[in-house]
Amino acid sequence: MDKLLLIDDETDVQYSFKRIFDSPEIELTTADSGEAGLELIPKLRPDLVIMDIRMGGLNGLETLRRIRQIDARLLVIMMTAYGTTQTAIEAMKLGAYDYLLKPFDVPKLKNIVFGALKAARDMRQVVAFQPELEAEDVDIGVVGRSDPMQNVFKMIGQLAGSKATVLITGESGTGKELVARAIYQNGDRSTQPFLAINCAAIPENLLESELFGHEKGAFTGAAAMRIGKFEQCNNGTIFLDEIGDMSLPTQTKILRVLQSGTFERVGGNQPVQVDVRVIAATNRPLEQAVAAKEFREDLFYRLNVMRIQLPPLRERSTDIRLLVTYFLRKFANANHQVRPRSIAEDAMAILERYRWPGNVRELENAVLRASVVAKGDVLLPADLPPEICAAVATGSPVAPAPIAAGTSGVPSSEPGGSVLSSSGPTDMAGLSRMLFDWARRDPKLKILPSIEREMVINALRETKGNQVQAAKLLGITRATLRKRVEKFGIKQELSIA
Ligand SMILES: Nc1ncnc2c1ncn2[C@@H]1O[C@H](COP(=O)(O)OP(=O)(O)OP(=O)(O)O)[C@@H](O)[C@H]1O
Ligand SMILES: [Mg+2]
Repeated sequence: MDKLLLIDDETDVQYSFKRIFDSPEIELTTADSGEAGLELIPKLRPDLVIMDIRMGGLNGLETLRRIRQIDARLLVIMMTAYGTTQTAIEAMKLGAYDYLLKPFDVPKLKNIVFGALKAARDMRQVVAFQPELEAEDVDIGVVGRSDPMQNVFKMIGQLAGSKATVLITGESGTGKELVARAIYQNGDRSTQPFLAINCAAIPENLLESELFGHEKGAFTGAAAMRIGKFEQCNNGTIFLDEIGDMSLPTQTKILRVLQSGTFERVGGNQPVQVDVRVIAATNRPLEQAVAAKEFREDLFYRLNVMRIQLPPLRERSTDIRLLVTYFLRKFANANHQVRPRSIAEDAMAILERYRWPGNVRELENAVLRASVVAKGDVLLPADLPPEICAAVATGSPVAPAPIAAGTSGVPSSEPGGSVLSSSGPTDMAGLSRMLFDWARRDPKLKILPSIEREMVINALRETKGNQVQAAKLLGITRATLRKRVEKFGIKQELSIA
């Protein structure tokens, strides 16, 4: 459950928050002054604070300053009335996570709050790597005992304590984000903020302003000044995910920040100085992007000094057993409806023989799907996703998803994606029969909406959130697509602007 603290002296705002966030996943506490909020924080340990800027007694900015001293990682969203955005900008400089204009738009409020809660979780969940993996307080671990993973652990250990920029590369689903968080968690800056930005999910023309901010009037629509992530995250760590998809002008700015710690806001000429550690990741072979002149060579060399290359799962299949056991335990702990805590040897043998084009993510999803279907305490071959059994049985495990130079974003290696891409001419009837079999085994799967949801997510990923293109891919209208996005609450998950 996520803990939300609202600090606002207006009772009607408190009342609307109670209504808006009335959910079993959220525990909302309210405080009616800055002083009361500050007193509550150490006891309550909220995941997120939402605070009004203008309050009697201690005002929002001063309260924010004190919150930052108590806990620099605690995310704070400020609320302000129209006409006082200057104060909101001050708040962003002080490290506020975002600000909202009152009266607020409820969907926008929810979007920001859920985005912030995810960022808070990323920051706080302890990501361990061996040998501490067995410890009690471990939420999440980077699991692996194979030689390549031992090397990765060694590097995490060496790099965590330094301020060095790190580049993490590897196919989709190999654990790049997880490793980035392990580096952050185990380093000197773990008490400072960590912000992740997915460069592929933000439209090219907005990314620069997202990272570096902009001055008022910098471009059409820039009605107020905006503080970017680098300024906001001063003293902390920024995770630039999918850096291979960044445009050349933004790459130039990144290079300068890495070299001198300075940048200018978009449309500005005043240099801003920051102290931010950068961890970057990409599944795109950057050497090829450099050759194609799509990635700056100097930036590549700068990033490449400290590089962690995550091997595809098929090159460390001895880790599969360990991962499966870890996932089974994780799912059973998280949800008591999920029963199996162990797996039959013949089922394990199938998982060990599959090629896993979607790597650990695909394995995790397969184990989750199987544990939902499973009837008993032990996971059996019949519980495994049929396409995986079929691929192993026919001896034609799907080939790894090719990541061609020039293409970007998520390769089509999501679970299930492999079925279509590997089967030549699309056999809709066969595919539907297979899925229907699956539904028959477990109606709880809610097969049709689940598939619909997955399809929409895939299409949006593929088109980087472009709804027109995504709708076209799926053969539906944009209006229908939009309805699905809303119905399934997909927006937050993909952090589409
Ligand atoms: N070694 C590991 N041990 C435990 N879980 C792992 C490991 N590697 C990956 N995972 C899990 O697999 C999933 C995918 O990992 P992650 O998101 O870090 O991959 P990624 O390389 O960033 O993928 P992408 O390129 O698609 O963004 C996550 O749920 C993560 O927790
Ligand atoms: Mg990732």
